[in-house]
Amino acid sequence: MVVLPSLKVEEFDFSRLPDRPRALNMERQRSFELPIGYSPRPPSRAENPRVTDHLDGIFSPGRRSGFNTPRSQNVFEQHPMTAEAWDALRRSLVFFRNQPVGTIAALDSSDENLNYDQVFVRDFVPSALAFLMNGQPEIVKNFILKTLRLQSWEKKIDRFQLGEGVMPASFKVLHDPVRNTETLMADFGESAIGRVAPVDSGFWWIILLRAYTKSTGDSSLAELPECQKGMRLILSLCLSEGFDTFPTLLCADGCCMIDRRMGVYGYPIEIQALFFMALRCALLLLKQDAEGKEFVERIVKRLHALSYHMRSYFWLDLKQLNGIYRYKTEEYSHTAVNKFNVMPDSLPEWVFDFMPTHGGYFIGNVGPSNMDFRWFCLGNCVAILSSLATPEQSHAIMDLIESRWQELVGEMPLKACYPAIESHEWRIVTGCDPKNTRWSYHNGGSWPVLLWLLTAACIKIGRPQIARRAIELAEARLQKDSWPEYYDGKLGLYIGKQARKFQTWSIAGYLVAKMMIEDPSHLGMVALEEDKQMRPVMKRSSSWTC
Ligand code: GLC
Repeated sequence: MVVLPSLKVEEFDFSRLPDRPRALNMERQRSFELPIGYSPRPPSRAENPRVTDHLDGIFSPGRRSGFNTPRSQNVFEQHPMTAEAWDALRRSLVFFRNQPVGTIAALDSSDENLNYDQVFVRDFVPSALAFLMNGQPEIVKNFILKTLRLQSWEKKIDRFQLGEGVMPASFKVLHDPVRNTETLMADFGESAIGRVAPVDSGFWWIILLRAYTKSTGDSSLAELPECQKGMRLILSLCLSEGFDTFPTLLCADGCCMIDRRMGVYGYPIEIQALFFMALRCALLLLKQDAEGKEFVERIVKRLHALSYHMRSYFWLDLKQLNGIYRYKTEEYSHTAVNKFNVMPDSLPEWVFDFMPTHGGYFIGNVGPSNMDFRWFCLGNCVAILSSLATPEQSHAIMDLIESRWQELVGEMPLKACYPAIESHEWRIVTGCDPKNTRWSYHNGGSWPVLLWLLTAACIKIGRPQIARRAIELAEARLQKDSWPEYYDGKLGLYIGKQARKFQTWSIAGYLVAKMMIEDPSHLGMVALEEDKQMRPVMKRSSSWTC
């Protein structure tokens, strides 16, 4: 069997896909309670960035009578980049038995040995959102159903069998020219570099199922017995009882977007935020039948414990930092303040300079005598979108991004992680990884795909002007540079050392950011409002820190 490029662009009837993004007829499903004072237009410089003009543009989904008018189309036509981005996104479609089932990671064939010719679950998310926002939900539905079939495969690494619910990291289409048949081949980590587990895939799958349901108003997909079962299998994996003393999810290194050794083992923020978001989405999607009910109860309990743990122990601002700086160690019993026995000497010097007077963020990892103070963009943005972050914390995260703009955004949005690890620490933490040298790739590199997450988070808390600044930066270079996967350097000024060109999620991430800023009602498919019930419980606790 030969592996052929699974793209069959020329065979597909593109008349089914509109040339231009079209306005959707799905207004009903889009409602999202945007913050009072949200202004879809850029506020004037004189305006306080936190308080936009209340009379000017309070967004109310019900008022979008012009939604199906070509308002958004005009904007797309105005910017030449969006037309090229749509073309590139369409070219990245992958077909299986004449149906589009996903998008290839990168349309760059410069190194065929790499796995960028595959459909990655996490990479497909911004593509899926772009298609949903553009009124093309079928591709997303096909993807959801195909990956669900893959989930039911028996997965083995050597002689070890993986959990039933594991979703693949990626898949590709194999074409047998003799029999003229196509089959799918999936990777659950058994072929991945370093054999890393895609813990995030299952979470993204649930999040995408909810985005599809919200955007189309079609709950029949999520209600299919096989979708309900798929969700329950994912949930069984992450809600199983074991030796854990924390509600967070224990993971191996490289289990998420950062899929190489980068010291993100333990309880990485990206996974915890996705876990939280997926649990909340599952709660909305699960049927309350005999099987679903039990999961609903377990989810509710876990969400309470998880939000308490994250908001208390992962949260870092000036006050918290000062508290840790003054920690006593070796405390035993329930009265301990320094519960995880973190040594103040382990506080890295950079964090004192990095922490602004106003602002804060969820740190990278918390475990026994271990706090990873690095900033990770994806986890913090998902924390805002899922309302894992309280409204105060969400604003503090944005305050930090604004105060540390040079460091976190620089010339190209957005640093996946800050700061880079160097020298001896790089040797120990990455195992001398030549791809993750300082300020490159995962290690302090800048990833354009993160633009959509920043934009969504900004819109959610009513500060879209921050996203606009970032989008402008991306527009100055992305297309000219052929949509690189990532940029290098402290400021993100250089196209990444080994960055792919025409990286699909850089393209789709830009489109999603653009469509969301233009029509904020799209936000509803990727954001969840605060669960008011969670707050009073939190406030009663004496350890509540913000
Ligand atoms: C890199 C990224 C990973 C992504 C993959 C395909 O391995 O680290 O997050 O899914 O490329 O683009």
